[in-house]
Amino acid sequence: MKIMLIGGGGREHAIIKKLRENPAVETIYALPGNGGISRDAQCVSIPATDLGAIVEFAKENRPDFTVVAPDDPLAMGLVDRLQELGLACFGPTAAAARIEGSKSFAKDLMKAHNIPTADYAVFEELEAAKDYVRAHPGPLVVKADGLALGKGVLICENQDQALAALEQIMGEKAFGSSGDKVVIEEFLTGPEVSVLSFTDGKTIVPMLSSMDHKRALEGDQGLNTGGMGVIAPNPFYTPEVAAQCMEQIFLPTIRAMAEMGCPFKGCLYFGLMLTPNGPKVIEYNCRFGDPEAQAVLSLLESDLLSIMQAVQQERLDQVEVRFRKGASCCLILASSGYPLAYEKGLPITDATEGLEQLIVYHSGTKLAADGSLLTSGGRVLGVTGLGDTLQEAVDRAYEGARHIHFPKVYYRRDIGRKALAVLAGEVQE
Ligand code: AMP
Ligand code: GLY
Repeated sequence: MKIMLIGGGGREHAIIKKLRENPAVETIYALPGNGGISRDAQCVSIPATDLGAIVEFAKENRPDFTVVAPDDPLAMGLVDRLQELGLACFGPTAAAARIEGSKSFAKDLMKAHNIPTADYAVFEELEAAKDYVRAHPGPLVVKADGLALGKGVLICENQDQALAALEQIMGEKAFGSSGDKVVIEEFLTGPEVSVLSFTDGKTIVPMLSSMDHKRALEGDQGLNTGGMGVIAPNPFYTPEVAAQCMEQIFLPTIRAMAEMGCPFKGCLYFGLMLTPNGPKVIEYNCRFGDPEAQAVLSLLESDLLSIMQAVQQERLDQVEVRFRKGASCCLILASSGYPLAYEKGLPITDATEGLEQLIVYHSGTKLAADGSLLTSGGRVLGVTGLGDTLQEAVDRAYEGARHIHFPKVYYRRDIGRKALAVLAGEVQE
């Protein structure tokens, strides 16, 4: 079988390593892939957003199955274009990808179907948005409507901050046209949980829950990033909470999408907050999270290709999705300065070979002319430890990190600390 995989980060590396476990897989083309991925797949230097070039490549090479991993090509309609060629794809159509691409679409869907989420209002006029803020004292969250690389969300402790955020997003267009519309939300509190799920539009199968660590610095300080580390499963996500989420959130969401004529097929990601009033949706993503995919797929025992094919063929109810017992910890090794400016092209040495229950996924790496590895992004590697317990998984990830070097490497020292405290009974669930 020939597989085409769109994307080139740690998430894509994790997907590729899993797909490779199926003996029917002969070739994987990664567009564009990265340095580490080139050891597991054939990298083709076509950017994930160059839909025209991807379609041409697909016409010439006729992959048997395609996985579109990042949000941009999904929102731009790559799956629709490939389906028109009669190609089998894992990933939502552009209409279904709106669940991530437009926050107002997602909020309206939740409101119409009583899916618990923060109270909100949507505005296209700056003055009307400001009037709303003046009428709603207290902390608010101001969000640019469209995709803004995860940066278009501003937590505002008071009215002045919220007014400034509106000025920035709508007035100055700090996030470009994604700020033509804003969503203003009530500020929620509680532990955050990420739940990735497989869904074929009718059946939904949640994967293991996980906990991202979004801030750049230890103790959840500093700027928001794409994610500095993930542990799975998330100890706040008890079986009771899971049952409540299935009933109140997961099933109503996929039913709503189907009713609207845009059934969601692919990986649907629920960003949840466990508030004192029950679980609420913070955001939907139309794809695997990164680094969540690295932590979660590492624990998947069932065959990923079979699951993805079942999703595409709408027979997800007929396959098994089983995870191994135990836990995982994906620790991101970043370049100092990330998420702002950082250097690229620095040499990496990886002496982790032989370390057990450790997988090193590549996010921002490239191969030099002599075949050696260089850094090429802010998030460089996802060092992922597995174990029977979370403590073992965390220890293995940090042990792995000590065997890897590149100039100006930076990683948080506290990935998993909060989850371990919950498990030790030091923090109330
Ligand atoms: P998002 O890009 O929508 O995932 O938002 C980024 C982060 O902002 C989330 O992971 C939360 O930590 C925080 N956040 C978003 N919406 C809210 C809200 N309504 N209340 C509190 N925190 C929020
Ligand atoms: N790690 C968060 C995301 O992928 O959206």
